[in-house]
Amino acid sequence: MQTGTDIVAEFAARPWAAVTLADLGPAARVPTMLTPEESQLYHWLGRRVQGDGAVVDLGAYAGGSAARLLSGLAAAGRANPVHSYDRFRSSRAFWARFMPDEPLPEADDADLLPVVRRHLAPWGDQVVLHVGDIGDKQWAGGPIEILSVDAAKGSGMADHIAAEFFPMLVPGRSVVVQQDYLMAVQPWLCAQMVGMRDQFQPLAHVPKVGLVFLCVAPVTRAALAGGRVHDLTDGKLMQRVRAAADWHEGMVPRGRFKAMLEQIKAHPGVRLGWQMKQAAAQPKG
Ligand SMILES: C[S@@+](CC[C@H](N)C(=O)[O-])C[C@H]1O[C@@H](n2cnc3c(N)ncnc32)[C@H](O)[C@@H]1O
Repeated sequence: MQTGTDIVAEFAARPWAAVTLADLGPAARVPTMLTPEESQLYHWLGRRVQGDGAVVDLGAYAGGSAARLLSGLAAAGRANPVHSYDRFRSSRAFWARFMPDEPLPEADDADLLPVVRRHLAPWGDQVVLHVGDIGDKQWAGGPIEILSVDAAKGSGMADHIAAEFFPMLVPGRSVVVQQDYLMAVQPWLCAQMVGMRDQFQPLAHVPKVGLVFLCVAPVTRAALAGGRVHDLTDGKLMQRVRAAADWHEGMVPRGRFKAMLEQIKAHPGVRLGWQMKQAAAQPKG
């Protein structure tokens, strides 16, 4: 049984860098928004799973993250279920960019499900698709080994995801990937995790913007209250971002947090990433 110190040392050595395209098998052909290093990480995380709990993929798009997790599980001979959540709809622009080989749909908001089912067919019933808004979903699937969060695009959703999924993480074993963690327009993610710093140990920064955490203590109701972000004032949100910069000293350059503070100052009260981005794109004055 690995101790927390063993796991910190294991991740510090970045062993996923040794994962090859051949290791990914059929997953290598599934389109993804993940960077090549993130692809390696997801496969390796699937391979290192030790318990029988679920693997949860929040924000699946075309199935790329799920496929890489599933390929890792298969390499380790594991049958843990992978639960992928998404609306499974796509704009034409994203479709053309990430799936250039698929016939382009005629309109936006195109149905991704037929494509995703084809992409994930090699792993059969091991993968369960949860279609719709994650804000309407509840988790009743028991302990979670790996939780990939790529859908906390607003502070309300970040709180919902924490409340539904974090309590089923297993201390000393479960890993959380916060895929958008260092995005300047999603400052609530670091504010949330630093609010639960007694429950989570940072393990690695995987560029571009992902951070991997080990759950080290049960996420109780009190812990969730400490991590809540949706009701924070701008001032409190900025305090938490500064605390996160201190917490991640040596792992993440401080400039990342400075960029978040600038976004909060420029967009008072805004708690949705796309609204910050949109406002940033507007000409000033
Ligand atoms: C960056 S993409 C995920 C990329 C994917 N993990 C991959 O490997 O390519 C984020 C996804 O989150 C989904 N998403 C965002 N907010 C959501 C919500 N509230 N409910 C369901 N899906 C959501 C989007 O539909 C989108 O497909």
